Amino acid sequence: MCGIFGYVGKRTDAGVIAIEGLKNLEYRGYDSWGIACKNGSELHVKKDIGPIGEIDSQEFTAPCSLSIAHTRWATHGGVTQRNAHPHLSEDRNIAVVHNGIVENYLELRKDLKAKGHTFQSETDTEVIPHLIEEELKKTGDFAEAVRAACLHFEGRYAILALHTQSNMLVAARTGSPLIVGVEKGSGYFIASDIPAFMKHTRTVQYLDDGEMVATDGKSITFSDIKTGETRPKREIPITYHIEQAQKGDFEHFMLKEIMDQKDSVARAVNQDEGEIRTIAEAIRRAKGTFLVGCGTAAKACMAAEYFFSVVAEHHVNFAHASEFKLFHHFLKPESLVIVVSQSGETADVLEAIRVARDKGAKVLAIVNVEGSTIDREADYTLLINAGPERAVASTKALTGQLAVLLLIAYALAERLKEGKTLLLETAAAINDMLNPRFVERLETLAEKIHEEENLFIIGKGWNYPMALESAIKIQEVSYVHAEGFAAGELKHGPIALIEKGSPCIVLTGNDEVLLDILSNAQELKARGAMIIGIGPKRHDVFDEWIKAPEASTAQAIMNIIPIQVLAYFLAVKRGKNPDMPRNLAKSVTVK
Ligand code: F6R
Repeated sequence: MCGIFGYVGKRTDAGVIAIEGLKNLEYRGYDSWGIACKNGSELHVKKDIGPIGEIDSQEFTAPCSLSIAHTRWATHGGVTQRNAHPHLSEDRNIAVVHNGIVENYLELRKDLKAKGHTFQSETDTEVIPHLIEEELKKTGDFAEAVRAACLHFEGRYAILALHTQSNMLVAARTGSPLIVGVEKGSGYFIASDIPAFMKHTRTVQYLDDGEMVATDGKSITFSDIKTGETRPKREIPITYHIEQAQKGDFEHFMLKEIMDQKDSVARAVNQDEGEIRTIAEAIRRAKGTFLVGCGTAAKACMAAEYFFSVVAEHHVNFAHASEFKLFHHFLKPESLVIVVSQSGETADVLEAIRVARDKGAKVLAIVNVEGSTIDREADYTLLINAGPERAVASTKALTGQLAVLLLIAYALAERLKEGKTLLLETAAAINDMLNPRFVERLETLAEKIHEEENLFIIGKGWNYPMALESAIKIQEVSYVHAEGFAAGELKHGPIALIEKGSPCIVLTGNDEVLLDILSNAQELKARGAMIIGIGPKRHDVFDEWIKAPEASTAQAIMNIIPIQVLAYFLAVKRGKNPDMPRNLAKSVTVK
């Protein structure tokens, strides 16, 4: 979703820094961008639609120590240059970038128009600088004016405002993330995500919901938006290295992150055993455990329903985070809600946490991004330690989530050691599997099927959510129409879609449902489908076979990796950039 960046301090290259910052936020997904730099007493503003690409940084080399910038993912108002942020006040002294939605903007706009303000865009955002301008007339204090303006806004948002006269940046959040980067003795960065400023500092301060921050580059003050009371704020070191957040020799982050699974799965498994046992005990005691997530993380939750059933004979409930509030009747103070999220910022998941909290239920978070809102809001957190995931399509975070959930299922079955051994063996087998021959084999398969309009994927048991995940992965990066089904459901409808030559991927394991799914594959083949088997063994029904080594109850983790590689090459062969799928965002911070 929208990316926010700002700098104020001693540096005089704040324009160039802002462009670099924006480029490091591109992975979040955007359709337009913009930047405002203070040159002398004037604001230099540039906005455009489409990719930032090779913008001429010469345009931003004039000495500048105060800048803000934005990547926009359109919500209110189409993708146009005018609608791109920053938006300015009437007097052009205030510039604002924004993530989220000001729900009551039509009403505010009407009032501001009555006071003589004119508007250039169709966005909800544009009311913000105009309202701050009105408030500033009352007190002359910029931070106070932003605070007073925020009290009028309804909805969840993060805003960053720049004021040319006081040379200040003020940011506020009631939903979307904002992080301060502290460059000691030099200045402050404010951004939606750490990679935006990580080159310059490894010390951060997180804004919590309902907080604001004001800085002139020399000092910084955190306060409560509602009361104005100042708040102390800890400085926290960043634990990962800059190289982990870069592409290195890979052409795309997606392939790099797929390859990272050579060791990220082992990192996910290496959890503190005492902590895993405590969590298993909490699940055992809970009156109802719910697994909640969105998109790919939701597929991890669905797979975990099978892990808990097959490994631990324990019932857990799954719900998409966006649907969870409809199940609030079943939540009690003794319930446990396990939320799974890579970013730790997904708005629907945050809402699910609020639903759980309202009923007094405890929340366990399984997240990748340490310090994220979900990490900070949960009662306990388990980090999957996948390292930064920047491609929009989630890959290594999924396998980390699956590994942690399976480990908990083994702990619940009081077989933690056995589960850990199995998962570490799986991690080693993934390392072997991701060799150049394997990658080439999938590239060849992608070459063969990349012009197909439809692709079907079937699975049973934990391979069923992996079939759904396969479909998401293929759709989002290659735009091929892919659909995943529970294998046994085919004959109840979807089989009508099969024509001669339709490519159908069949996810298999050496498990109790193998014969069932092979017979479902036969049903497809009998109707002309081309069967691509993925799993530990070749079977007669397969026209093509991609070997995913035997992994017992961890087969879902193994099977999804060839699909990730296939999706990547389908995108590349179809001329799409897999790191920047259209219409999508990495961190979905609006509902
Ligand atoms: C798909 C994908 C999304 C995310 C979903 C949840 O590849 O990445 O479906 O899984 O938006 O995001 P997180 O895990 O950050 O809560």
